Amino acid sequence: MSALVIANWKMNGALSAVEVFAETWGSVVIPNDVQIVICPPYVYLSAVREAMPREVQLGAQDCAGHKAGAFTGEVAADMLVESGCAWVIVGHSERRQYHAETDELVAQKAQLAQEAGLCAVVCVGEQLGQREAGEHQQVVAAQLAGSLDGVDLKNLVVAYEPVWAIGTGHSASPQQAEDMHRWIKDCLMKHYGADAQQIPVIYGGSVKPETAAELFACETIDGALVGGASLEATSFAEIAQAGASGRN
Ligand code: PGA
Repeated sequence: MSALVIANWKMNGALSAVEVFAETWGSVVIPNDVQIVICPPYVYLSAVREAMPREVQLGAQDCAGHKAGAFTGEVAADMLVESGCAWVIVGHSERRQYHAETDELVAQKAQLAQEAGLCAVVCVGEQLGQREAGEHQQVVAAQLAGSLDGVDLKNLVVAYEPVWAIGTGHSASPQQAEDMHRWIKDCLMKHYGADAQQIPVIYGGSVKPETAAELFACETIDGALVGGASLEATSFAEIAQAGASGRN
């Protein structure tokens, strides 16, 4: 399985920043055996599509839990496909925290995304207190059971993002990530059976160029979901390069 490296720009950037990113990206060499996805804010999707080379795929940071209708401010999965997206992140901890998204809603979004032809990147991860209380496996198992209810194993990626590692500069250690990825893969096997082996499990939470190589060297880590370090083309490219060599 080639490494999957996804940029989550969150609510950052500007049209001018897309141009700068693309220009810098033009001068870096990215190996073929790494899959790269950029998830900009919705309004920059077409700018990223136009500015970036075709081998860089496009994703969104969320989609609606409804197919269409009177849902002001929402964007449907079908619309994302029309905008050139092949991927969508659902259940990011910031959506769960600031928009009170439940596992049930996340599962609904993932189903709609898959129906539209998108690959759903379903995020799970425990909070600091839950890890300190030794509940991280239990919490993540429950999130997986709820968020994957009715979700197909094809066109599915699971992102393990411990909340305490997101945007804090404190990445999970390779050992912590490796252990949780193994646990997640076991949960997926229980949920889907042996075919679950094909579901990539990627890590997110303060992935930086300096830490990427040791994370990718872990057998159970199939890629990365990168926030802050993906805003700058050079650092995101370094992470992508580490992803390629880590799988060799
Ligand atoms: P971070 O964000 O890399 O800035 O920690 C990761 C994420 O939230 O997806």
